[in-house]
Amino acid sequence: MGKADSCPAPTKPNLNWHLINHSKADHDLRHLIVDLSRACKYISYAIQTTEAGLAGTKNEFGEDQLALDVLADNLIREFLCESGLVCCYISEEQPDIVELDPEGQYSVVFDPLDGSSLVDANFAIGSIFGIYKDGNVIGATPREQVAAMYVLYGPRTLLVVSLGNGKGVHEFILNDVGEFVLLRDHLGIGDDAKNYSPGNLRAITTNPGYKKAIDSWQEEEKTLRYSGCMVADIHHILSKGQGVFSNIGGGEGSKYPDGKLRHVFECGPFAFLAEEAGGAASDGTMAILDKEITSVDQRTQIIIGSKNDVESVASLVS
Ligand code: AHG
Ligand code: MN
Ligand code: MN
Repeated sequence: MGKADSCPAPTKPNLNWHLINHSKADHDLRHLIVDLSRACKYISYAIQTTEAGLAGTKNEFGEDQLALDVLADNLIREFLCESGLVCCYISEEQPDIVELDPEGQYSVVFDPLDGSSLVDANFAIGSIFGIYKDGNVIGATPREQVAAMYVLYGPRTLLVVSLGNGKGVHEFILNDVGEFVLLRDHLGIGDDAKNYSPGNLRAITTNPGYKKAIDSWQEEEKTLRYSGCMVADIHHILSKGQGVFSNIGGGEGSKYPDGKLRHVFECGPFAFLAEEAGGAASDGTMAILDKEITSVDQRTQIIIGSKNDVESVASLVS
């Protein structure tokens, strides 16, 4: 008897089942994604149980106290070590590339906790991951990712993942027994945005192009949806099937001349997911996916979401 006869599709496919049967992920990549999802379950629990007020503070001796950023970074590291599949990783919390298992075939780039300054306000926060084959992320472009994923810790814990190549972008929810089960498959982004999400808004005083973009969104009476957590703000776009998110640099003397966000572990993974969902991601002049990664802390402007709006804002800010 064939497998399909003896094992009908489950009514609620879990992440592992979906990676095997829908995405046809190869064995090691599937294990790596599942291991990352396991780390995120612990992060989700830590967010609920670790005192938010302590995160990122110093004690009276000037020593760093337990921060959720560091905790999340360590948890992910533990799971990457356990997997034995990863030769190196780049994390927002580490100054350089970290070497792990010389035999490992994959590199992982990640922001362990994105939007962590919002945790005491009980806003949603997230983790972002990009996966590359081999160890040469510096000099590569985000198009070379073999998978990208994020986890959003909000009222519900959601995981969104894609293996690219037309396999789609899929959303899972963490259930009460600790399993990520399919919530919606094939999330898509339509060509026109009704919602806008303008990051690094402080730049409009020194960047007239960005000011024009904001003015046009307001004139078009688009609806503002901005939380200050990139994961939540871009998930809003994938969830609603439209929207545009931006983080644009300021002009001379400004705090973030290239925008605030990092190319390798913030913009790259989201650009991979957005294009796979039918949207676009640009730095104003080129696709984020084709922009070379030159260093671990490289920043880049980004306009991401509905194609037509990405294009029109790019023409104003480039
Ligand atoms: P992190 O918490 O990892 O440092 O990232 C926060 C980021 C990102 O999530 C968000 O889009 C951006 O900071 C918000 O910045 P501004 O609203 O100040 O532009
Ligand atoms: Mn971040
Ligand atoms: Mn972070």
